[in-house]
Amino acid sequence: MNYISLTFDGVSCPGCINAIDHQISKYDEIEITNISQNSGDTIIVTKLSRVSILEKLKAFEGCCDACNIELSTIEIMDSNEIISEENNNNYELIKKQYRIALERAIDGIEVSCSENCVCKTTNFDRLEESSIPSFASVYDLSNYIMSYVKDEMNLVDFGSGTGHDAFQIARIYKNVNITGIDLTPEMVNFANEKSKDQLLTNVIFIEGSDLAIIPHKSQDLIYTNNVFNLLPNKNKFIRDSYQTLKAGGYLIIADEFSKVALPSEIDSDPAFRCGGISGAQSKDFIANICTNEGFKQKDFQIINQYEIEYNKVKFPLETGILVLQKQY
Ligand SMILES: C[S@@+](CC[C@H](N)C(=O)[O-])C[C@H]1O[C@@H](n2cnc3c(N)ncnc32)[C@H](O)[C@@H]1O
Repeated sequence: MNYISLTFDGVSCPGCINAIDHQISKYDEIEITNISQNSGDTIIVTKLSRVSILEKLKAFEGCCDACNIELSTIEIMDSNEIISEENNNNYELIKKQYRIALERAIDGIEVSCSENCVCKTTNFDRLEESSIPSFASVYDLSNYIMSYVKDEMNLVDFGSGTGHDAFQIARIYKNVNITGIDLTPEMVNFANEKSKDQLLTNVIFIEGSDLAIIPHKSQDLIYTNNVFNLLPNKNKFIRDSYQTLKAGGYLIIADEFSKVALPSEIDSDPAFRCGGISGAQSKDFIANICTNEGFKQKDFQIINQYEIEYNKVKFPLETGILVLQKQY
């Protein structure tokens, strides 16, 4: 297998990035490990030769007349580049940041994953609120989610963290099954311990970075609270969610949405990256990807509006809940 870096010319809008993702995803022999939401530059893992890649990626279905995407370079990555890419893709930075964030919360220091963290944009003390800290974008998301929940449903809390949201639902809906999935082992252990302490048998937390362990068409609702922006391939998560949901099932994304494009350099700032801000895209951009994958937008609620400052420039963002439904 080779790690291969692809760059493109003629990427003019978010639709071009979708078109690149769609074209590459048609081929089982190619796995996307990362796709830049700004330039469309993509890292793939494949056994295919350069000639086969060129052949498969010679045309793209753009979203409009302005789309004129062309594969520009195909570079096999050397071992140093692969190590740094694997660090990105194995989420080492995120795991480390959230392990430390959990330790700091347990030690009673603060609930926040970095200096530029979403948790700092809300004006209440998360340490005071609960012994199970919430690193959420939307603190009381569970109340909103419960308006969609019925007995016997199967739910996934993707990026479940300490289990804060899952517990609130599991305590009320004893006949609902909730699977929490989280990348950070310390978060998973903490949540499973808290579940045992509360004698809850309808919620389980599993270590993972995607929805692969969940059978297709098995879930009624997947929600994710302050996690979506951390994902290196959002399109894949949306596609996987679609496959995992039953017909009529819901995907609820609670996160930060940008109101103007954020500069691409902000993604190399670990505090903004792990803080769940640098990966923010506009609500319309995300809703558009979801619609292309077969979802229908059912609701969008703005919970908070604020600005961040980067290199002395202010950028407006909003915290929101985007609700999508898989069509029957
Ligand atoms: C900001 S915290 C939010 C936790 C929880 N949803 C909450 O509201 O408190 C982000 C969580 O997402 C997890 N995470 C990040 N990337 C992930 C991925 N690819 N798959 C699963 N979990 C991920 C992190 O380990 C962390 O626990």
